[in-house]
Amino acid sequence: MITIKNESQIAKMRKAGVLLHGVLEELRKEIEPGVTTLHLDQMAERLIREGGGIPSSKGYEGFPFSICASVDDQVVHGFPNKTKLRKGQLLSIDCTCILDGWQSDSAFSVVVGGGSPENQQLVDVTERCFWLGAQQAVAGNHLGDIGHAVQAYAESFGYGVVRDLCGHGIGTEMHEDPNVPNYGNPHRGVRLQPGMTITIEPMIAMGTWRVNQLDDGWTIVTRDGRPASHYEHTLVITDGEPEILSYPGMKVSEVLK
Ligand code: MF3
Ligand code: CO
Ligand code: CO
Repeated sequence: MITIKNESQIAKMRKAGVLLHGVLEELRKEIEPGVTTLHLDQMAERLIREGGGIPSSKGYEGFPFSICASVDDQVVHGFPNKTKLRKGQLLSIDCTCILDGWQSDSAFSVVVGGGSPENQQLVDVTERCFWLGAQQAVAGNHLGDIGHAVQAYAESFGYGVVRDLCGHGIGTEMHEDPNVPNYGNPHRGVRLQPGMTITIEPMIAMGTWRVNQLDDGWTIVTRDGRPASHYEHTLVITDGEPEILSYPGMKVSEVLK
């Protein structure tokens, strides 16, 4: 069931988004060769709790950490660990928090220490896929318009669009209806209405879109071992541009201008 959020509920999701955005910006600054993803995980949990929130990934269906940290061929849901990050690795950080009962969910990817133009292009294209998808996230459009925009741009670079995982509705639960695929056909699927809160989260692979799950029951990796990138925000559908709740003040039209 898709629920439409009212203004006071959206105001709470806005606050959760402000908290999450601040946390992810702090993590981004901390990332450099030699840092461990377990350190980033502990930092995320501390910052979320200091902000009055709860890291909602921790304990979610048994997931043991506050962030997902996925390196290179790991697409999403990687476990933070004590291995030092190395220059040129493609690191994706995904974090979800609850504040006052309402969720926010966001992810970004970086090339650790810079220096891999191939990985950097994948990161940049994945981010742009998000913004092109978000541009379609307007009342009256359909979910297929979002997926189509993401897919068309990613595939124009020869990249693979991961099919097995999708964006999603979000609210008091991390995962609500509807599913928000990163592929699709224009004018197809659920019609978007003001007050729908969803995530758009392109997972883009340099090679094949086919993935496997590791024996840890969580980590998703590409089948060909090539890198993948992830970018995600929580947003609310309006009659005009969507409001990017987990990127306060940022407008789709600013990014795409
Ligand atoms: N944040 C993820 C998403 O984008 C979900 C994380 S699964 C968890 O949907 F187990 F880590 F919580
Ligand atoms: Co997420
Ligand atoms: Co999500």
